[in-house]
Amino acid sequence: MNLEQKRSCKALIASIAVAIIFVTGAISKAEDGYRLWLRYDPLPKRTIESYRPRIASVVVPGDSATLEVVRTELVNGCTGLLASAVPVASEVNRDGAVIAGTPKSSPQIGKIGWERQLANLGPEGFRIRSLKIEHRSVIVIASSGEVGVLYGAFHFLRLLQTLQPIDKLDISQKPRLQLRVLDHWDNLDGSIERGYAGRSLWDWKALPENVDPRLRDYARANALLGINGSVVNSVNANSLFLSAEYLHKVAAIADTFRPYGVHVYLSPRFSAPIELGGLKTADPFDREVAAWWKKKADEIYQAIPDFGGFLVKANSEGQPGPRTYNRNHVDGANMLAAALAPHKGVVIWRAFVYDAKPGYDRAAAAYDNLQPFDGQFAPNVLLQVKNGPIDFQPREPFHPLFGAMPKTQLMLEVQLTQEYLGFSNHLVFLPQMWREVLDSDTYAKGPGSTVTKIIDGSLYGQRLTGIAGVANTGSDRNWTGHHFAQANWYAFGRLAWNPDLASRQIAEEWINMTFTHEVKAVETITRIMLESHEAVVDYMTPLGLHHLMWGGHHYGPAPWWDTEPRADWNPVYFHRADETGLGFDRTETGSNAVSLYHGQIRDWFANLNSCPEKFLLWFHHVPWDYRMRSDRTMWDELAFHYQRGVGWTRTTRKDWDALSGVIDAQRHAEVAKKLAIQERDAIWWRDACLLYFQTFSKRPLPEGVEKPAKSLEEYKAKSLSW
Ligand code: GCU
Repeated sequence: MNLEQKRSCKALIASIAVAIIFVTGAISKAEDGYRLWLRYDPLPKRTIESYRPRIASVVVPGDSATLEVVRTELVNGCTGLLASAVPVASEVNRDGAVIAGTPKSSPQIGKIGWERQLANLGPEGFRIRSLKIEHRSVIVIASSGEVGVLYGAFHFLRLLQTLQPIDKLDISQKPRLQLRVLDHWDNLDGSIERGYAGRSLWDWKALPENVDPRLRDYARANALLGINGSVVNSVNANSLFLSAEYLHKVAAIADTFRPYGVHVYLSPRFSAPIELGGLKTADPFDREVAAWWKKKADEIYQAIPDFGGFLVKANSEGQPGPRTYNRNHVDGANMLAAALAPHKGVVIWRAFVYDAKPGYDRAAAAYDNLQPFDGQFAPNVLLQVKNGPIDFQPREPFHPLFGAMPKTQLMLEVQLTQEYLGFSNHLVFLPQMWREVLDSDTYAKGPGSTVTKIIDGSLYGQRLTGIAGVANTGSDRNWTGHHFAQANWYAFGRLAWNPDLASRQIAEEWINMTFTHEVKAVETITRIMLESHEAVVDYMTPLGLHHLMWGGHHYGPAPWWDTEPRADWNPVYFHRADETGLGFDRTETGSNAVSLYHGQIRDWFANLNSCPEKFLLWFHHVPWDYRMRSDRTMWDELAFHYQRGVGWTRTTRKDWDALSGVIDAQRHAEVAKKLAIQERDAIWWRDACLLYFQTFSKRPLPEGVEKPAKSLEEYKAKSLSW
């Protein structure tokens, strides 16, 4: 058998396998959510008929691991979606060929003469065009890099999965952000910090000999989105991850991810030179320490040549860092950056730093700690800033560091795992929240200085750009615990590729790719998803309230909580309820953290009359009888929001029930169960918060707000269970 025959044979076996999967899948109707957006089930009949003449064969010359993947995905995808075998061919020799490659890997693509256009799109960008090659009508998927070809192939498959016309394709795309990274907060023992979907995907005991085949599917799912990085261990790091033994394990993961363009990163513990290297100090100015990191970097790149770099949490929440040795953040970051620079690695330094100072406002802490270092970080350092100044709350204004460090490469960090948003029990579509932040105008360089323009480099021209998402994946069969939490992983990847994408488009794509093409059902589910974030804010933390959750695990309400060792870990510190009113005064009369924002935006937030009501209690301590824009008092408005949130969970349960029969039985039932929990929890949040705040407001619940189910004492006695 020659190479070509071997390839066709392999592809034939692959298509038979796909055919078996979808036939048996159709019979058993077992739908556990495992396949994510990589489902290649037959499309509606009419769509298949319109696609068939355009997709008659797949032509992917080349033998590299990535091109093998491109070929397999295109063959499996087209065969599955079109419900009939689409063969592999060695070259374009008929109408309807789908040809994919780089000008180097495919002589026929090489002859088109796209070198310049492809070079402009970069190795991750791609072009998809309907063309004539050798008088045949074909679809070309081309890139200057093999990973770009893979991204193009997945983009093409998404067009099919979402029923888009493919008659006259002319698409050119490249990612807007360079580093599109998932941060896994996974520990050595297999647990995941703030993980709600089972255990870690990495089985450290079995690695490096045995790599769970699931890791390949994880990489495929990421590649379809263009996610190109994965930090495999928690930011609260253990030094052992840098030991030779673990580097081999991490290398096995990297080998699996490589064909899919996913680079592995690690979170190093800053004190590793002491713990692993036996040195007396981890002082970044100590020559032995710097030499230790250089050697360690060499060792890492020996094992993992395409290693991405380090993600560092330093001098935050008990983690060691340069300040432990009387040095500063720049000293620490640049020392690590020097070790990685020869290998083209990056240091992602986290801005999540807040000191325990008496009388301090935590919302100003990261700014105070990091802003003075603007312009001092090495060229291969990025500063990773959370979306808001506190900590992934259901709603926060944008972080004031955005727009305050024009000479620093800022990266946005969002959280996919729903630490403060009902774990994997609540349906909440997070891009609604991320869009708010991305679209926020910082006014840093006048109007239009949005967070998006800062992180994509267009405002200040930063050379390296990126976004990170704290992952929500785990060993659960459906990856994310809640079927709908998959949509947040999907959306993160899509926004990382193009931070201007509308939430509606993302939702519609995801629904079509994972649940159904039925138009009415897509409409209903899209509406539910788009409403969900506001609803969760309503029943958890309306009007700018934040950090009201139970201590430690963070599930369910505990606005009365005041027993944490640090003031700024307690809800009472954040809501400041008293007889006069509610909310944190961050204006001149209070902490003045509002002054960290630029002129126009600062005045807008600082003025009670202009402050958006969604941030009212974030920036102001507001009297209970203050008149809101609705003409209700603040107390009534608060109660109204809590009630509205509960109301949404009930309507949504009904809407979802009505989809029975449209959605497969298994996923329908599993989501229905979660929605019941969400309603229970929303009621708990409403009642616990209103009863507690009522002890200060001393006002009755307004008409239309239900009487609490339990007493405040009962809510205080035991946390909501998950
Ligand atoms: C939150 C979270 C911690 C995490 C921290 C971080 O505070 O509760 O578990 O370590 O964020 O982002 O570092």
